[in-house]
Amino acid sequence: MALVDLTGAEDMTAALRKLQDQWGPVAPVDLEPGVPGWLVLGHAEVMEVMRTESVFARDPRHWKERLPLDSTLHAILSPAGRRALYYADGADHRRLRLPVDEAFASMDEAQTAAMVRGVCSRLIDSFAAQGHADLIGGYAAAVSFLSVSGMFGFDERQGIALLRCAHGVFGHGGDSVTALATMDQIVLDHVLATREDPGNNLTARFVEHPSFENDTEIVHSMVVAICAANEMLVTWIAATLRRMLTDPRYTGRVTGVRRGLDDALDETLWSEPPVANLPARYAVTDCTLGEVRIRAGDAIVMGLAAANNDPRVRTTEDLFEANNRSHLSFGVGPHACPARRPGRLVVKIAVESLMERLDLRLTDPDVTWAPSPWSRYPAVLPVAFTPERQAARTPARV
Ligand code: HEM
Repeated sequence: MALVDLTGAEDMTAALRKLQDQWGPVAPVDLEPGVPGWLVLGHAEVMEVMRTESVFARDPRHWKERLPLDSTLHAILSPAGRRALYYADGADHRRLRLPVDEAFASMDEAQTAAMVRGVCSRLIDSFAAQGHADLIGGYAAAVSFLSVSGMFGFDERQGIALLRCAHGVFGHGGDSVTALATMDQIVLDHVLATREDPGNNLTARFVEHPSFENDTEIVHSMVVAICAANEMLVTWIAATLRRMLTDPRYTGRVTGVRRGLDDALDETLWSEPPVANLPARYAVTDCTLGEVRIRAGDAIVMGLAAANNDPRVRTTEDLFEANNRSHLSFGVGPHACPARRPGRLVVKIAVESLMERLDLRLTDPDVTWAPSPWSRYPAVLPVAFTPERQAARTPARV
C-alpha cells in the first residue's frame, strides 16, 4: 500500500487496523509507488525507533534507495547537502539543536500572542463581509505560515512567498526541489538583512548563536523549522475546525471555558495527529523491529496515527484517558518537537479568533483530503456565516 492511499483513505483508522491485522506492528509500504519502506504501527515500536538513534538514524545518507529524479520525496527524504538538525544525529544534532531550543525558550509569549492575534484578525477581516469562506486556503494555511514567519521576523509579503514554496515542498506531485531552492534564497536574504538590523525575533537569535558554523546551517535550520511548523499547524487547526463543524459533542468542549479548548485540542492530537506518518529514519545496521527483520539502509516511517490508537496505550474509557499524555504527536527522543508551546498558542488563537467572531456552518459535508503521504487534512473546508457589515481590508487567499 502507498502512504498517500492510507492518508487519503475514507476511513484511515480502519485502513490502519487492516494493515496491523495483516502485518503486526511493522508493515511494508510504498513511500510512493515503487519506493519501499516500513511503516511502524505499534506505540512501543515507534518509541523504540525514535529513541534509538544509534540504530535508526535521521541522516538520509544511510538510506540505500536511489530515488528517481522526478520523485516528490527528494525534498523531505533525500535532501542532498542539507545542514540542519532534522537531518543530523548524535553530537552534530545536539550542536544544531541548541540554538533552536534556546531561541524558542527566549520567545516573548505575550508579544507572539499579540502578533498571532493580529494575523488572525486581519485574515478574518478579509472574508467576514462575504458570508462564506474556505477555512483551509483562506484561513488555516495563512494563519500557520504568517504566524511562524512572523516569529522569525518576516513581513507578511515574505511570509506568503514562503508559503507558496512550502506547498511545493510538501505537496504530492509538484516540483519540490525548485520550491526548496526558492525558499532558501528568501530565507538567506532575510538572514543577511537581520544581521545588519537585528530585531527581537527568532532569526536574530539564530544569527547571533555561536553553535552555527555558517549561514548555510542557519538557512537550512530555519527552512526546516518553517516547513515543519507549517504542515503541523495547518493540519492541527484544520482537524480542530472540521470536528467543531461536524461533531456537536466536541464543539461543546471547544466553546467551554479555556480549559475546555485545551482538552479539545489534546483530543485532536490523540485521534488525528498533525503528522499521521512521520518521515523518516534509516536503519544503520541489520536489526529486528517487532518481529520484522530490517536491513541496513531501509527507510522507516513512524505511524503516529496508528501508534496513538494502539490499544496498549489508549482505551475507549474516558475515565482512564483523562490524564493520559502518552500520545506521540509531538514526537519523543532527541528530535522531539522543540516548539510545543508556540505551536499550541497559534492553534488556540486561530480557533478562538474564529469562534469569537463568526457563527460558522459547514456548507459541504463531503471531505476531499489534501494529497500528502505524511499528513491528512481536508483540501477545502467551505463554510457560511452571517456576514459582518464591515468591508474586506486585506486579500486572504494565498
Ligand atoms: C511553531 C510551530 C512549530 C515549530 C517552529 C516546529 C519546529 C520543529 C522542528 C525544528 C523540529 C525538528 C527537531 C529536531 O529534529 O531536533 C520539529 C520536530 C517535530 N515537530 Fe514541531 N514545530 C512546530 C509545531 C509542531 C506541531 C503543532 C506539531 C504537532 C502537534 C509538531 C510535531 C513535531 C514532531 C512530531 C517532530 C519530531 C520529528 C522527528 O522526530 O523526526 N510540531 N518541530
